[in-house]
Amino acid sequence: MSRKESWGSRAGLVLAMAGNAVGLGNFLRFPVQAVQNGGGTFMIPYLVCFLLMGVPLLFVEWSMGRFSGQYGDHSAPFILQRLAPRRQFWWKYVGVFGIFTNLTVAGYYSYVESWTLSYVWHSISGVFQGRTADEIAAFFNNYVLHPGAEALLWWLLCLLLNVWVLSRGLKNGVEAVAKIAMPLLVLFGLFLAFKGLTVQAGVDGARFSSAEGLNFLWTPAVGSTIWDPKIWIAAAGQIFFTLSVGMGSVQCYASYMGAHEDVALNAMSAGWMNEFVEVCLGAAIVIPISVGYFGVDWVVENTRNGGLGLGFRTLPYLFQQWGPAMALLSGMCWFGLLFFAGITSSLAMGMSIMGFLEDEFQLDRLKSACLFGLAAFVLGLPTVLFFSHGVFDEFDYWAGTVSLVVFAMFEMILFAWVFGMDKGWREITAHADIQVPLVFKFIIKWVTPTLLLLVFVGAFFKPENNDWHAVLQGQWVLDDGSVVHQILNTRLKKAMAAATDAEQLQTMQEQLNYVNLSRLLLAITFAGVWAMVYVAYQKRLKKEKQA
Ligand code: PHE
Repeated sequence: MSRKESWGSRAGLVLAMAGNAVGLGNFLRFPVQAVQNGGGTFMIPYLVCFLLMGVPLLFVEWSMGRFSGQYGDHSAPFILQRLAPRRQFWWKYVGVFGIFTNLTVAGYYSYVESWTLSYVWHSISGVFQGRTADEIAAFFNNYVLHPGAEALLWWLLCLLLNVWVLSRGLKNGVEAVAKIAMPLLVLFGLFLAFKGLTVQAGVDGARFSSAEGLNFLWTPAVGSTIWDPKIWIAAAGQIFFTLSVGMGSVQCYASYMGAHEDVALNAMSAGWMNEFVEVCLGAAIVIPISVGYFGVDWVVENTRNGGLGLGFRTLPYLFQQWGPAMALLSGMCWFGLLFFAGITSSLAMGMSIMGFLEDEFQLDRLKSACLFGLAAFVLGLPTVLFFSHGVFDEFDYWAGTVSLVVFAMFEMILFAWVFGMDKGWREITAHADIQVPLVFKFIIKWVTPTLLLLVFVGAFFKPENNDWHAVLQGQWVLDDGSVVHQILNTRLKKAMAAATDAEQLQTMQEQLNYVNLSRLLLAITFAGVWAMVYVAYQKRLKKEKQA
């Protein structure tokens, strides 16, 4: 039973939390976000968002978890509820987000995780040896766009691994894996970063030197582009995703710590470790290497539709330029590192679900782990089978992006305003091994909620062409990329209206159907989780009455 679960050691807890945060996002998503948002220009909003949203949210989520854990609550709905007065019974339903996100993200996340596992194998078996760029790209396209038995088997294997580790429990499973995976990940990352930082023009076929990519990433823009809200929203989104805040998984992990353990220093250790891996290692591999061979413009152009391609299509080819032995080593390190990053994150998603099942439905560890694996499989399946129809992107957009911001906004209000900042501050600083600067009390109460609201409004009601000046002058025409128009499928519908030939129209109609079906599935999942929380609540009420 979950009540008896706890972390084995402080180092283990911090490594597991760091493992939760350090994920595919650090190595695949971050570089692409940086490249797509102007390189150096991105880094300033990114760091500001880390300090004004990431750090406060870490303090809040960790202390929420520790607080509610004392009462035996280990799932987002009841962790949130514990902070609110009884008559505000609805907070547990805000916590539905914290289960829903982990469940739906786990589906497609474990799928990408399984690619990394299979690519470790393919690197070892030499599939990429002596192949041309086109052949390696074709291999990927074939694997991902037309998933066959092989892709499915690797995915199942990966899910089984997750279930197995989860069934071993917190200390012997999750913590034990983090203690091995995290150091190895850093080691592999350092090796690849060294390779990345020593790319030289004219050596091994590289056309440029590392400095080219680094300058692009680390030269802050002068001028006004830095005030483009699009860049700020992207930066905030990346901070959320990479720190795993707004998900419910940090609260879940923290709920298994002792009531007298430190929150402040632990939260900062795990958070800064994530930033080190992201900003120092994550930025030193994909970008400098790809830029070294293809130049900045090519990399910008080729990351427009996301970044999975660079990691799975481009790098395995570029590694081949370093000779067979180095290619083998680099491939193993790169995909091994991605796998470790991925599994320590998917385990966190799993625990967040298991905490709920164990607490509320008295399932044992093995059963709840299996149930999680099954749910991830069922929810992931549409993203796998219909990957090329955009189901994956649809899931990632709603569950992996929008939902995080919504949840974070509510929990911040709960913590700072309902629970109350005086009590909140006491929770953050109690048993702390560092002195938390007092300014964070102000930031948590005012700055972070305001910023969250801005990001929220900004994303939902983004004006046409991102022109906020027009808004100030009273003209607010929504952009097709605003969340509101995403819901209405405006972009697709416009394209359909403009389509001239029937075949084209049919393809788009099909795409629209896939989009709508994905959303239906997401909505059903959300409603299902909601119903389970309702049932759990009724069960709790009944038990209280009996007592
Ligand atoms: N932070 C992880 C990453 O960077 C993703 C993640 C999100 C993990 C939510 C757990 C929960 O990839």
